[in-house]
Order: sequence, then structure tokens, then C-alpha cells
Amino acid sequence: HAADAHRTDLMTITRFVLNEQTKHPESRGDFSILLSHIVLGCKFVCTAVNKAGLAKLLGLAGETNGEDQKKLDVLSNEVFIKALVSSGRTSILVSEEDEEATFVEPAKRGKYCVVFDPLDGSSNIDCGVSIGTIFGIYMIKDGHEPTLDDVLQPGTNMLAAGYCMYGSSCTLVLSTRSGVNGFTLDPSLGEFILTHPDIKIPKKGKIYSVNEGNAKNWDGPTTKYVQSCKYPTDGSSPKSLRYIGSMVADVHRTLLYGGIFLYPGDKKSPNGKLRVLYEVFPMSFLMEQAGGQAFTGKQRALDLVPEKIHERAPIFLGSYDDVEEIKNLYAAEE
Ligand code: AHG
Ligand code: MN
Ligand code: MN
Ligand code: MN
Repeated sequence: HAADAHRTDLMTITRFVLNEQTKHPESRGDFSILLSHIVLGCKFVCTAVNKAGLAKLLGLAGETNGEDQKKLDVLSNEVFIKALVSSGRTSILVSEEDEEATFVEPAKRGKYCVVFDPLDGSSNIDCGVSIGTIFGIYMIKDGHEPTLDDVLQPGTNMLAAGYCMYGSSCTLVLSTRSGVNGFTLDPSLGEFILTHPDIKIPKKGKIYSVNEGNAKNWDGPTTKYVQSCKYPTDGSSPKSLRYIGSMVADVHRTLLYGGIFLYPGDKKSPNGKLRVLYEVFPMSFLMEQAGGQAFTGKQRALDLVPEKIHERAPIFLGSYDDVEEIKNLYAAEE
């Protein structure tokens, strides 16, 4: 019985990644080790986020040793940086929280570079709404000292990408270039268990997700597109609007239910808000791996070549057909 097998033959994320690696005989387990350190960071942040609401009651804030309680995003960043450095598998780390990239000391260096947003969705932290961690993994070019060029690579060069959502449950979604798989943390086991094998995004969705408060500054194609979501002219039903304001949560819903997530550029912010390396790329990578698309208004998102580590880009991502519509509107502009 398939359901029984599921319950007794637990596919942990570690087992899953080790299985995948047997397809690459040249690999020596470095990727599994790196990933286990990322997973550790996610588990830590999950626990910290779950306790955050109780912090006041339990007197955790402003505690004892003179050091004020660290903000959750700063704390999460420290945990990830330390976990990644101690993995011995990384050379360069780029975090949303740090202005400069971290170059790992030679003795602890490895072949991977990790770009990440340790805790995204900061406006949702204090009210207990879902937030998440986003990450992408590159490999350094062989045979030279690591330089920033190793991370200023197009998204198509990523080896893996994923996110962890701290929501009603803790869900880690990962792609290592062969589809997308979702794992849910079983708190009693402390393990991520495969719960969403081979995620495919519906070809077309019924939901659009955007901060409409920026509408007065939008360009023509974005304005037309959102108008058509509300007042379709092809006889279809209007789309529903859902917007949490946490990219991880909005993208997760888009991935599972279908539809489109937009953070367009506008007159005030021509490049939108979201960061190429650790927001736009990982999510675009996952969308493509799940059968969807990701577009910047000018090009395929993963083809961007960032020039700065904290660069921003407009992004439209989600169901294949829905993104195709906005691509057509931009093409018609030219
Ligand atoms: P931050 O990186 O500062 O936590 O911002 C969160 C991001 C992303 O999670 C979300 O999609 C977007 O900002 C929401 O921005 P708006 O509040 O402008 O809609
Ligand atoms: Mn922040
Ligand atoms: Mn962010
Ligand atoms: Mn952040």
C-alpha cells in the first residue's frame, strides 16, 4: 500500500540528496555536506522564529549578559555564515544582511559559493506571518583564487537553489537541476521529510500576486496585465489577488497553486525591489525547474549577468501561460 510505504519508509532530505548524487559518480559527497549545513541553519531559524512571539513573555528580550537580544534577521545571518564557513565546502558567501561578500579563509575553503537571504519578509516578522530563507549555490571556477566574479554569474549557472518557509509548517523546497522537491520538517524527528515529490507548477493559474499600492508608478505592460487579471477580455473569469509581502510565501503558493507573482520595476524604482542574486535567481531557477517561467520585462531572468552583488531586477514569475501573457505585452511595447 503506497500510503503505508510513505509512512514507514521516510525519505529524509539527506537520503534524497545522497540518492541523487549516485547519478554523479565523480561527486565525493561535498554537496551533501554543504546542504546539511544549510539545513541546519534552516532548522535553527525555524526554532528561533517559532519562539519569537513568546520572547517578551519569556523575558528573552534584552536579557542578562548586557547584550540586547539580536534581531531575528541578524541572528539568522550569523547562524548561516558560521554554518556555511564551518562546512569547509564554501569559498564565497553573499548575504542580504552583509554589504560585502564574505571570503572564507583558505584553511576552510571549498568549491562552492552560496548566495542567500537568511530571513526574507522582514515586515512580517513582528506579526507572526510566514517568512523564509532563500539560497542559491554556484561552483567556483577551477584553479584560481576566489574572486567576486565567481558569484557574479548568470542564474543559469546555479547548481542548486531553494528556500525554506517558516509558516504553519516548516517547508524546504529544493532543486538540484533535476526538478523540484519539497520537504516538511517533522519537529519530533528534527528531519525534513519528502512530502512534495517532483513539484510541477500548473500551466495556467487563477491567482495574481503583486503590491498594487505601487500601481500609480507602473509602466504600460504591467498596468495592462493587472487590468486584464481583473477584467479579462477573453471570456475567462477574473483572477483572485493574494499578496502576503513575503516573497517565499507568495512564491510557494504560486508554485503549488499556479498563477503569477510580480515585482515590477516602476517610475520610482526602475529595477523593482528584489535582489538578483539571492531573491530573483533562486526563485526563477525553481520556477523553471517546475515547468514555469521567469521574466524581467526584458529577458529570461536567469540570463541576467549581475554586475553588483546586491543588484535588483524586476521580476514576473509563475505558471508558463501566465508569464507568456506578460512577455507578449512587453514584446508589443517595443
Ligand atoms: P526584505 O528583503 O526587506 O525582507 O523585503 C521582503 C521582500 C519580499 O519578501 C517581498 O516579496 C517584498 O519585499 C515585498 O515588498 P513590498 O512591501 O514593497 O510589497
Ligand atoms: Mn533584512
Ligand atoms: Mn529579502
Ligand atoms: Mn533578509
